[in-house]
Amino acid sequence: MANERILIIGAGGQIGVELTLALRKLYGTDNVVATDIREEHPLLKGGPFRHLNAMDAFGMLEIVKKEKITQIYHLAALLSATGEKDPKRAWDINMQSLLQVLDLGVQEKLNKIYWPSSIAVFGKTTPKQETPQQTVIEPLTVYGISKYAGELWCQYYYNRWGLDVRSLRYPGLISWKSEPGGGTTDYAVEIYHEALKHKKYTSFLDKGTYLPMMYMDDAIRGTIELMEAPSEKLQTRMSYNISAMSFAPEEIAASIQKTIPDFEISYAPDFRQEIANGWPQSIDDTASREQWGWKHAFDLDSMTREMLTNLGKK
Ligand code: SER
Repeated sequence: MANERILIIGAGGQIGVELTLALRKLYGTDNVVATDIREEHPLLKGGPFRHLNAMDAFGMLEIVKKEKITQIYHLAALLSATGEKDPKRAWDINMQSLLQVLDLGVQEKLNKIYWPSSIAVFGKTTPKQETPQQTVIEPLTVYGISKYAGELWCQYYYNRWGLDVRSLRYPGLISWKSEPGGGTTDYAVEIYHEALKHKKYTSFLDKGTYLPMMYMDDAIRGTIELMEAPSEKLQTRMSYNISAMSFAPEEIAASIQKTIPDFEISYAPDFRQEIANGWPQSIDDTASREQWGWKHAFDLDSMTREMLTNLGKK
């Protein structure tokens, strides 16, 4: 483990910040090189950081060689809501950057690659409850299309060149250290900020919109556990379903009211409602639990306590 040299692409994003911090603890700060197209995130200061546009193949190769990188976590992407505003751009960024990373993995003989997929791969023809690992997959957003195509490419590089690529289909992720950006599930983060600031929140998803969700601590631990699992245990080289909880906006509001009794929620659904309507309400993650030991720790109320306490201090 000590010899690994890790490159994070998109380290300043919602997942990137916390994953970089966790990997630095595990592998040593100097062995985890954070990169992002944006300014260095304040929480990442004190460790190696390089500016990198995920579309810059040459820049990526240069960093991999110079830093003697052995593993890449490629997290940069346009998410579901942002993607719908400029579908071609979302496709270009999400696909080109992934293919570059996969090619680099083969060419430079990297040990492992991590790339996130999403519940957005599923569409309206997929069973909505307890969505199975293998099922009908007809994504409706460009983000979902790029994630599903990406899963197939990951599997292809594994089969064809033995590249050890691993992936999780994250549900909506909720965190307080780093901000989300451009997702359909972001309401479940905004609501905590607004509850503390104004004791009210207008949700862009309607009452009754159930979606699978997860607290960031669980997502980070799951990611690292998947990456450390023995290769022979992993029976799919598509992406794994992973789940923790499911709730609708009125349920997260009720959970917040246990701490802030006068908190009020109202609803003004926008274009993101249609995206959410195409996604599953709950996920069957038996394959993850059986093959590499996945187990979530946080439910809605324990997550709410953590979110309100930590954001309150912040
Ligand atoms: N949280 C993501 C989104 O809403 C789902 O992968 O786009």
